[in-house]
Amino acid sequence: MKNKIITVSHPLVQHKLTILRDKSTTPANFRKVLEELSILLTYEVTRDLPLSTKKISTPICDITAPTLAEENLILISILRAGNGILDGMLKIFPTAKVGHIGLYRDPETLEAKEYYFKIPKESKNQDMIVLDPMLATGHTAVAAISKLKENKPKSLKFVCILASPEGVEVINKSHPDVTIYTASIDEGLNEHAYIVPGLGDAGDRIYGTT
Ligand code: URA
Repeated sequence: MKNKIITVSHPLVQHKLTILRDKSTTPANFRKVLEELSILLTYEVTRDLPLSTKKISTPICDITAPTLAEENLILISILRAGNGILDGMLKIFPTAKVGHIGLYRDPETLEAKEYYFKIPKESKNQDMIVLDPMLATGHTAVAAISKLKENKPKSLKFVCILASPEGVEVINKSHPDVTIYTASIDEGLNEHAYIVPGLGDAGDRIYGTT
């Protein structure tokens, strides 16, 4: 099995991605545009949510109208940059529950080390969406997904703004069942494991910590 990869090519997504890539974009504008882009990605990521119906009355008449069958998605933010996507997703999916995973990249080995893990109690058999703007080496994503799978979610999706071909391959090897959503698959990684052309360090760009 190979991962399903959905690259969202909508013009608004691509336009906003260019703003994020531009190094002259201020942290304030970066956060705003990242939030908008995340809302647009959510539209794709939630496309397969099941609908049911309910009876309502419009000002004109009674109808049976579509409504989400369940509203209990679990969003998992990989700290700290995942929070930049989380804010936008929560805007249009306010009933989602939220978990956080803290992982840092060991600068020597580039392996992911966990320092924080807190997810909603009832996560068994729920749909989980993992958020991290940058799918670079894929080690962090694989570590996060492996840990989350111990909680037996019903489904698991991974949402990023940029992916590298290397990162996609690494997830594919360990977790071929996970669908990846991204705004772009870039050229590759440089010697510091940054995505090229990328947008730099997402956390630094969001929080102005450069
Ligand atoms: N993490 C980032 O924030 N940027 C990259 O390019 C790679 C990993």
